[in-house]
Amino acid sequence: MSRIVIVSNRTPGKGPAAGGLAVALRKTLAEREGFWFGWSGRLVEQPSSEARFEDVDGLKVAQVDLTRQDHHAYYAGFSNSILWPSFHLRLDLATLDSTWYEGYRRVNQQFARALLPLLKADDIIWVHDYHLIPLASELRALGARNRIGFYLHIPFPTADTLYAIPNHLDLMRDLSRYDLVGMQANRDVAAFTEFAEHQSPASISGDPLQSVDFSRTEVDAFPIGSDPDAFARLAVSPAATKMVNRMRRVLGDQRLIIGVDRLDYSKGLPQRVEAYEKLLTHDARFRRQVHFLQVAPPSRDTIKEYQETSETLDSICGRVMGRFAELDWQPLTYVKRAYGQPSLAGLYRLARVGLVTPLRDGMNLVAHEYIGSQNPADPGVLVLSRFAGAAEIFDAALLVNPFDTDETAEALRLALDMPLDERISRWQTLMAAARAHNIDDWSRSFLDRLAPASRNGSGTR
Ligand code: G6P
Repeated sequence: MSRIVIVSNRTPGKGPAAGGLAVALRKTLAEREGFWFGWSGRLVEQPSSEARFEDVDGLKVAQVDLTRQDHHAYYAGFSNSILWPSFHLRLDLATLDSTWYEGYRRVNQQFARALLPLLKADDIIWVHDYHLIPLASELRALGARNRIGFYLHIPFPTADTLYAIPNHLDLMRDLSRYDLVGMQANRDVAAFTEFAEHQSPASISGDPLQSVDFSRTEVDAFPIGSDPDAFARLAVSPAATKMVNRMRRVLGDQRLIIGVDRLDYSKGLPQRVEAYEKLLTHDARFRRQVHFLQVAPPSRDTIKEYQETSETLDSICGRVMGRFAELDWQPLTYVKRAYGQPSLAGLYRLARVGLVTPLRDGMNLVAHEYIGSQNPADPGVLVLSRFAGAAEIFDAALLVNPFDTDETAEALRLALDMPLDERISRWQTLMAAARAHNIDDWSRSFLDRLAPASRNGSGTR
């Protein structure tokens, strides 16, 4: 049976904190041998050209170090200040610094050179996310003929936005060097197809325009999921109960609304707090009756746009506190730190409303985890952005346009007033959908499509 090689920017760490994706891919590696390859997290003056293997709780992980300059251009620069904002349709937040692209390519070349000597001819390679779009091109330039798949965890941009990304034609050519490209949602595949069919309409560089040949690349939606039944168990575990008891002391008999997101401008956090503010403004009966908990661990905080989002959120939360807090009642708690999955599962179960309102999101696993954690006899209500990939799966949620804070405020009101029988029937539909998108099935179906004959032999390319 062929080995599987997983490649991603970050590699899994030691300890029990791993997210669902890492757990699922670990299981795949345990069944199929293979190893995980990526950045070590270390910045050094002179990186070795060879990867170092480490045992991470029984998982084989091969890692490379990067120089500080390359890492900056590749990670904070091209990946997170050009690709991330533009793929989330926020060109206004992109910094089009032309020097970063070279660093991005250099790191992908460095990954390819360090990975190639570790590969067997029939290894199946699965590359993850936007940091590593050129990896297949770089591996193929060095002679790799393996089956290589790519999975994009974030949304794929509309063609117009893609045209605005410098080097977009190179990136699309890079995608065409994969055997299989997986995306989160049908809307992403549609955007990709639109580009592939019409291609870039003009070239300002004077180069003759070449179109990209996608004839050997299969592109399809493979919506990622979670393990909702594992969340159901976690939500009643002793660690979860401890957290729930702490929170209950704060809440008394108020109903909890919860949001959990990395502190990222794509998550729509300021709009979300404004929607809550509108609820309290227009419907005074909810004052003293509800409490909004927003958990937002800081993310990519060396990047200016992230710092600004953080400041905006501080100021909006401060305003809502100033307008509504009383000596013995606070409308919200805003915590800028991360919690482990058991604590979050407990809090999700306690919350009457899960507020998941990104402005754009690949999938959004918080939506899946919130559903999995509910008490079947008294479930909460999911308020979900139409612009999360999850909206294609969870149409029994209250779907909102997160830019429209009146609409989100109205959905909050509906959710808080929703009778038990409607909550149960919506939740049952949502839970069935979450189960139908189990994370183990996700990795299995991607790999089966990438290498249907992988149990017998090598690829053909
Ligand atoms: C998103 C991306 C991942 C990334 C994660 C955390 O989910 O799709 O690739 O790892 O955010 O971001 P960070 O920049 O901290 O790795």
